[in-house]
Parts: sequence; structure tokens; C-alpha cells
Amino acid sequence: MQHILKRLDAMRAQARAGGGERRVGAQHGKGKLTARERLDVLLDEGSFEEWDMFVEHRCNEFGMGEQRVPGDGVVTGHGTINGRLIFVFSQDFTVFGGSLSEAHAEKICKVMDQALRVGAPVIGLNDSGGARIQEGVASLGGYADVFQRNVMASGVIPQISLIMGPCAGGAVYSPAMTDFIFMVKDSSYLFVTGPEVVKTVTHEDVSAEALGGATTHTTKSGVADLAFENDIEALLEMRRFIDFLPRSNREGSPSRPYEDPGDRDDFSLDTLVPADPTRPYDMKELINKVVDEGDFFELQPNYAANILIGFGRIEGRSVGFVANQPMILAGCLDIASSIKAARFVRFCDCFNIPIVTFVDVPGFLPGTSQEYNGIIKHGAKLLFAFAEATVPKVTVITRKAYGGAYDVMASKHLRGDLNVAWPTSEIAVMGPKGAVEIIFRGDIGDAKKIEARTDEYRERFANPFVAASRGFIDDVIMPHGTRRRVARGLRMLADKRLENPWKKHDNLPL
Ligand code: HXC
Repeated sequence: MQHILKRLDAMRAQARAGGGERRVGAQHGKGKLTARERLDVLLDEGSFEEWDMFVEHRCNEFGMGEQRVPGDGVVTGHGTINGRLIFVFSQDFTVFGGSLSEAHAEKICKVMDQALRVGAPVIGLNDSGGARIQEGVASLGGYADVFQRNVMASGVIPQISLIMGPCAGGAVYSPAMTDFIFMVKDSSYLFVTGPEVVKTVTHEDVSAEALGGATTHTTKSGVADLAFENDIEALLEMRRFIDFLPRSNREGSPSRPYEDPGDRDDFSLDTLVPADPTRPYDMKELINKVVDEGDFFELQPNYAANILIGFGRIEGRSVGFVANQPMILAGCLDIASSIKAARFVRFCDCFNIPIVTFVDVPGFLPGTSQEYNGIIKHGAKLLFAFAEATVPKVTVITRKAYGGAYDVMASKHLRGDLNVAWPTSEIAVMGPKGAVEIIFRGDIGDAKKIEARTDEYRERFANPFVAASRGFIDDVIMPHGTRRRVARGLRMLADKRLENPWKKHDNLPL
């Protein structure tokens, strides 16, 4: 018996050693943690149950028969974060560069299958040189097996990718199909083709960082949700983030004890909207003042910043926030912001997370660039997402709600459950100036007449009362009571039941 235990110990030690001291040193030298060190930070202490520690690759080509490392470059299993069950895989760059072999893929698929069966999120820590070159097509098959599972799990369990090293070629498509992507600055890369191929094909000279680094993907492409300074920060923020999400679509939005009273007034909100309707203000201030303890987890803060998305809690329960940001592009909807918010709304709807929408939108951004690039199709995504969502929807209009954008932003007409407006709201087909210049085109040369007409239009239409008289908004509320009204609304909606007609799936305008 004793010798078997010794053998087990030795085998475990060999697996834990990964690619050996030299490669672990190289990993640390790049400022990166190893696959196991990352799991130590991510998961609750002592909670990790490892699976398939002794799995090895089955390749004998190119001398691979003599190189077998137990675990084969990926550490998999389950553990808890703040006591809640999570499945994980963590690629080990010290073993064949974390490259994906057939066996490596099987390990990932096994935890994904189990996560689906029990209903718990999967977090993938990606650090890989891509397909295991020595295995060829077997490794490509492995990728496709993972992709298929990503798709089957989409909308059933939350899937989150943390990119902590290279991730290139077709390998990018697994993270791309997960719900959220976090990256680490200066050490993680996502691209379909690397800088050398780019240079050969397009003659562009671009560094890996500029092509597919964390800053690029969180500011230019919108592929990633957040960029962090280092591994530790990324893993600790992941622990904070996962707490906002339910384990699966079978659960309601998670709830936790709270101390911030739901009926807390905030009188500073009464002066948030400036008297001059053309002056911006920071919508984030409203979100921060409405959520429990000012704890707002914003996603994609540096991409399409004319719309804000993220999670907060109201009376302890997770809520998704969508809000126009008047500080950027006057809060207009454009292609990027529509796609950004649409995907977020759909995530919330998949996972039973109520949506609170704050509206100050002068319309869709005009211009050839927007039209040529398909604002019609992309704007429709957000409209589609809000319209199909069956979760509780609470909407607060703070100022402008003009034209089609009024309809889009979780209006009453799109089955908004509670739609309220601040007294500063202007709910109309368009702004007073634009409206008058169309209706009274003949008077355009007469500045005085135009001014009088504009004042008349503003008086008549640039307020919440016309919409209120039709029941398009349920009430006009004082800004300082916003948290109270939203909290009550969500309490009232806690047992909301609404189902869309049966369909195989919808046909979102992609
Ligand atoms: C096998 C690999 C590997 C791979 C790296 N290694 N990538 N082994 N298959 N894909 C091994 C190296 O041989 C080396 O082994 C160790 O990992 C570390 O690699 P280094 O090159 O020393 O590290 P570094 O300088 O940091 O460079 C990392 C890298 C580079 C940029 C990822 O290794 C690289 O370019 N690798 C190849 C990437 C690639 O072309 N992958 C296939 C893409 S096609 P030793 O023993 O020396 O430690 C693809 C298709 C997927 O992925 C399609 C899905 C549908």
C-alpha cells in the first residue's frame, strides 16, 4: 500500500511541476503566474477539486512519444468563488506552450459538459500557443469540440474567458463565443492572424500589442470587456464579477444581504440635469447613486462610451444597467453602442437579470459613415434585444427621449414594465430646433419667428406630460426618489411571468 501512495504522490508532484522549473521561471519572468497559481488566486482557498491530472496526450509524431507531461497543458476541475460553484480550466503555458492537443481539448470538454449538467458557470483561463502543431488535424477537431460546447452552453450557463497569454488563429473563437472576455495588459493577445502574417499579406507593420492586445480590444474593437494591469488584478476582479451572475438560466438573479436602504433619497440628483438642455452631465453619477453602496461593475467603459452597461444591485439583487451617456456624442446611439448594449441586454435576459435603463438620447447618430456601415441593421439589434426581453424592465427617462431612439430604449411599447420620467424629460419626435426648422421651413430667414416657434414647441412638447397623458410613461418622478421608485418597481416585478411565442430561435438582424 505504502508504495502505491508514494507513487501517487510522485505522479501528483510531476503533474504539479508542469513544464519544469526553467519554464516556470520564464513564465514568471514575463510577469505571468502559472496555471495553478492563477487558480489559487481565483478560487476560494482549498476549494479546488482537480480532474484529469493524469491525462496525457496520445501523439507519437516528432518525438512526442518521449515527451509526456501529466495533465497535458491544462488544469481542469471545479471549485468555489465566495462559496458558489464554478468550473474552470486553466491552460499551462509551461507545458508545450499551453497548446491544445486532442487530450487537452477532451479535458476542457469534460468540465464544460459537467457544468452544463449541474448548472454552473465555466471560467476559462486562456494562455496557449494554439493548436498542438505536432498533432495536426486531431487538435483542430479538439477545438471544434470545444466550440460546439460553447454554443450549446450559451444562454444556459455563464461562460467567461480570461485571456492571460497568447490566443491566436481559430483559437480566438472559443472566447469569442463566451459571454464576457477579460484581458491582461501587455501579456495577452487575441488575433486571427499574427503580426508576421499581417505584414506578409497587407504589408502593415504592427506589434502584437497594437494588433490584438488588451488596450486594442477594449478601446478599438470592443472584442474584450475589460483590461487589467496584471494577473492578480484580473483574477480578483473576476471573483467580484462572478458574484453578480446566477449559476445558470434555471436560477433567478442572485441576491445577497444588503444594508443600503431601498428607500434612500439622494437630493443631489435634483440638480444633476443642467438647466441648459445642450449641456452634458455624467450619467454614471446617477447609476452610482442608485445602486447599493455605489457598487457598479461597469463593462466596456472605454469602448462606445456613449452607452454605459454593467451590473449593480438594488436591495441586494443583481440588476443590469443600460444608460445613455450624454458626455459622449451627446448620448446618441450609433453602431458600436447599439451592438454593445444589445449583447448585454440579451445576456441579462438569458440569465433572468432585471434590466434598469436610464434614458437621455437625442437620437441615432447621423452621417454617411453610420449609414454605409449599417446603422439600420445594427441599431435594430438593440431594438430587437429590448423588445424580446421578458425579464423585469424598469426605465427612467432623465432628459431627452427623441424619435426612434425613444422607442428603442426600453420604452413602454416594448413591454417596459415600469416607465417613469424625471420632470426634466423631453419626450418628443425630435428636438425643438430641428422640429421647427422642418414644420416652419418658410420662416427660416426670420430669426425672431423661429425663436418664438421653438419656444412654443418646447413648451408644448419638450416635457414628459404629453407622453404621460397617453400612459406611455407611468409617472413623473422626483429625481431624488429614483432609487426608491426603481427598488419598489423591482420588488413589484419579482415574480413577473412573461413568455414569448414558441420558436426554434429568433432571427436577430446580425
Ligand atoms: C506545440 C508549441 C506551440 C504549438 C508553442 N509551443 N506553441 N508546441 N504547438 N502551437 C511550445 C514551444 O515549442 C516551446 O516549447 C514552448 O511552447 C514555448 O514557446 P516559445 O515559442 O518559446 O514561447 P514564446 O517565445 O513566448 O512565444 C509564444 C508563441 C509562439 C507566440 C505562442 O510559441 C508561437 O508562435 N507558437 C506557435 C503559434 C502557432 O502558430 N500556433 C498554431 C496556430 S494555428 P519548449 O519545449 O521550447 O518550451 C491554430 C489553429 C487553431 O491555433 C484553429 C482552431 C479552429
